[in-house]
Amino acid sequence: MDQFLIKGSSRIAGEVTISGAKNAALPLLAAMILAKTPTTLHNVPLLQDVRTLIKLISGMGIVIQREGATVTCNTKTIDSYYAPYELVRTMRASILVLGPLLARFGEAEVSLPGGCAIGSRPVDQHLKAFEAMGATIKVENGYVKAQAPKGGRLIGCDFTFDMVTVGGTENVIMAAALAKGTTRLENCAREPEVVDLANMLVAMGAKISGIGTANMTIEGVDELYGCEYSVVADRIETGSYLAGALMTCGDVLTKNTSPQLLHPVLKKFEAMGATISSGEDWIRAKIDKRPQPVDIRTQPHPGFPTDMQAQLMAICCLADGTSTIIENIFENRYMHVPELKRLGANIKVDGHTAIVKGVEKFTAAPVMATDLRASMSLVMAAAAAAEGESLIDRIYHIDRGYEDVENKLRGLGVNIERIKA
Ligand code: EPZ
Repeated sequence: MDQFLIKGSSRIAGEVTISGAKNAALPLLAAMILAKTPTTLHNVPLLQDVRTLIKLISGMGIVIQREGATVTCNTKTIDSYYAPYELVRTMRASILVLGPLLARFGEAEVSLPGGCAIGSRPVDQHLKAFEAMGATIKVENGYVKAQAPKGGRLIGCDFTFDMVTVGGTENVIMAAALAKGTTRLENCAREPEVVDLANMLVAMGAKISGIGTANMTIEGVDELYGCEYSVVADRIETGSYLAGALMTCGDVLTKNTSPQLLHPVLKKFEAMGATISSGEDWIRAKIDKRPQPVDIRTQPHPGFPTDMQAQLMAICCLADGTSTIIENIFENRYMHVPELKRLGANIKVDGHTAIVKGVEKFTAAPVMATDLRASMSLVMAAAAAAEGESLIDRIYHIDRGYEDVENKLRGLGVNIERIKA
């Protein structure tokens, strides 16, 4: 497995161009299955997860091609509605093809996504909603076998999610877009990536109101058509690079992004003492002293995003005081804690709560990446603050979600080298 060799400590400063959001590109690619005519998607990040989903979709006989950051898709030759375990287990979001296949073709057989390092990641809400829309769902041998009601079309219904679920909301609005009749959803996720998906569905001819709110109404249509669309900027990639500035008395300008996407994160960065300036498509964070401690609890949007918890914790490790972090979304999202402690952090975890006592500096050490966002917090900690050389193992996690990561970090003054396995 590839490793990163990082020589600390660097001041993270400079400009970085943000890519399209992984967590928007994945549902948008799945939504292409719904279109009767060809679709074109721009600003698609070059990531392992995106490659996996493109492979999975092309395995159904769909013609889907990428040229740089643009993906085109033509569903005319689709000949199977099957998503195999060997692909789904490497990329859980593959479950997002279930709604489109069921809605458009009346059937689907999709492997249940396994859990992952951060939690068991159930999909009960997705399946419960499809059953409420008249589908017959059987779970056999690790596969979800779904069948639309006779006549082959889902039926619109009223449905309230038991908890806020990003993937559940996305799967169901894609299915509802082609259902017979109206679907009224309550307790929907409001993440910018959910909004991006709803906006693309509308561009394809879907009738959706309440986009960006917890209650959406979808009036089913008979057909959806291809469109040309561009993936929203990655707010988590943006926050990750800005976090590097806060850890090193740095100054980072992120371009091709938007301050509206990560308002809760920017408020916390300001509370820690950073000066945040921004324009329509850029955000700058600079700080010239040790960050102040801060308390956060992760919540569904517009609360503080769980995907920024590890990166914020890395800043808190160097803060001038004690911070409290409460992870409310996933049951096991503190895998980065023992690794940060190897770099000299002082963190105590009690259930969902982490108490972080700031230290002056990290010290270099070999560490292991455990999941996507945790690995970025380690890279920032090792790159930004650790004196000496740190070797980070299992960095395939990072390649799943951060495009061209070592070049972007180098452009921000980080001394980083990829060691090929
Ligand atoms: C999406 O995952 C993101 N992934 C995650 O980003 C992100 O952390 C998460 O939303 C929360 O914002 C993609 O968009 C590809 P959920 P998702 O359904 O949709 C429980 C990253 O690092 N739940 O909102 O799988 C679930 O266990 C990744 O980029 C059920 O119980 O998350 C969790 O505790 C990590 N039953 C909570 O809800 C269900 O049917 C939120 O999960 C669905 C979810």
